[in-house]
Amino acid sequence: KKYMPEPYKVKMVEPLRILPKEERIEAIERAGYNTFLLNSRDVYIDLLTDSGTNAMSDRQWAGLMMGDEAYAGSENFYHLQKTVQDIMGFKHVVPTHQGRGAENLLSQILVRPNTYIPGNMYFTTTRAHQEMNGGTFVDVIIDEAHISDKEDVHFKGNIDIKKYEDLINKVGAENIPYICVGVTVNLAGGQPVSMQNLREVHALSKKHGIRVMFDCTRYVENAYFIKVREEGYADKSIAEIVKEMFSYADGATMSGKKDGIVNIGGFLAMNEDDLYFKASALVVVYEGMPSYGGMTGRDMEAFAIGLKEALDFNYIKHRVEQVEYLGNKLIEAGVPIVRPIGGHAVFLDARAFLPHIPQSEYPAQVLAAEIFIQSGVRTMERGNISAGRDKEGNEYFPKLELVRLTIPRRVYSYAHLDYVAEAIIATYKRRDEIKGLKFTYEPPVLRFFTGRFEHI
Ligand code: F0G
Repeated sequence: KKYMPEPYKVKMVEPLRILPKEERIEAIERAGYNTFLLNSRDVYIDLLTDSGTNAMSDRQWAGLMMGDEAYAGSENFYHLQKTVQDIMGFKHVVPTHQGRGAENLLSQILVRPNTYIPGNMYFTTTRAHQEMNGGTFVDVIIDEAHISDKEDVHFKGNIDIKKYEDLINKVGAENIPYICVGVTVNLAGGQPVSMQNLREVHALSKKHGIRVMFDCTRYVENAYFIKVREEGYADKSIAEIVKEMFSYADGATMSGKKDGIVNIGGFLAMNEDDLYFKASALVVVYEGMPSYGGMTGRDMEAFAIGLKEALDFNYIKHRVEQVEYLGNKLIEAGVPIVRPIGGHAVFLDARAFLPHIPQSEYPAQVLAAEIFIQSGVRTMERGNISAGRDKEGNEYFPKLELVRLTIPRRVYSYAHLDYVAEAIIATYKRRDEIKGLKFTYEPPVLRFFTGRFEHI
């Protein structure tokens, strides 16, 4: 396969350094075997996340100079608002500092004790907000999403309509304030939802008066997969596909740090007036005025420009093909990864990679640490530690125990990805030497961010 060359050229560089192996071992020990706690300066290639780690364009940097830093009514907010309205078709936009700010507003307004929020697999911060407001998250993604190597399923992010309908019948539509549809689904491996499925979810929701809220953090990647995989969309532009996708939603939360191609920003968007009034009343408590929501004027300008750039076909094709390039190198070497390859990251199947380590000893966490020791490449656990504990304090033991190699947008070259592939393959060859971990410090919520570990 031929991969798309970069549709941009480099105008500014940030030098990287690679620590000698002994110092990498010291660094990961100091970090309690948690890659979140490493100093960035000790990392060579940083695949921890694609969130806020993107390279902005010259246009976006120029936009920063046009920041209108008024406390209220900033020109850049109107630009951002109009951009979201034009691209997604929503009536109202409430800016927030990042995605979880929007999740906080939405959950505080709509989630109550004894309500249920169906979703296509959980996301960490999204579920945390739902639970902190007394709600119960219910996973209604198709079963195949939980199987790491179901290669022939092109839309592994799809909602299982039967599971959704069963939930409605069981708890009653009046106890379901909204369904949260992730496009794409991060923790399933960056897997997309088909247009057909969005249409069906919308129809069933309308029949029962349930709101459809997208988590549209990576919606451009989803639109790209619809274009290349779903019948009838090959000749449609990304912008047209995006428009149709959002026609099946009543609102959305967005982390601009992903498909907004910026370093910070987010919003909550909706059509409903009442929800908008409540959100603008609440945003002033947590984020700031409804015309900045925790962002500076210049942040909003860069965000508005980034949203438009992300709709360019060459941009998104290159972005997804970089991920595919890395994934295919690993598949060729026999390394177990989630298939099909997703939109923002390659996910290693840590249980297949390290079959001798039980899930209670956190194979994905130790694998991320070992990859850093091997190469200076930073990755992230997305398994039992990320899933956390239920209300009774039991670990979830999710079927997917993964290490995520997340590719920032417009940052690394194919040669960097060659280096990453070699590092993973070298780690795979010495997998029998790797041993499990236990917690030395376990935070009560979102424990993956700051938890510390030692070898058993
Ligand atoms: N929804 C999804 C699907 C996400 O991936 C994220 C963040 C959020 C919501 C929250 O947005 O970080 O701006 O508050 N994901 C990052 C990641 C942290 O690394 O996957 P945020």
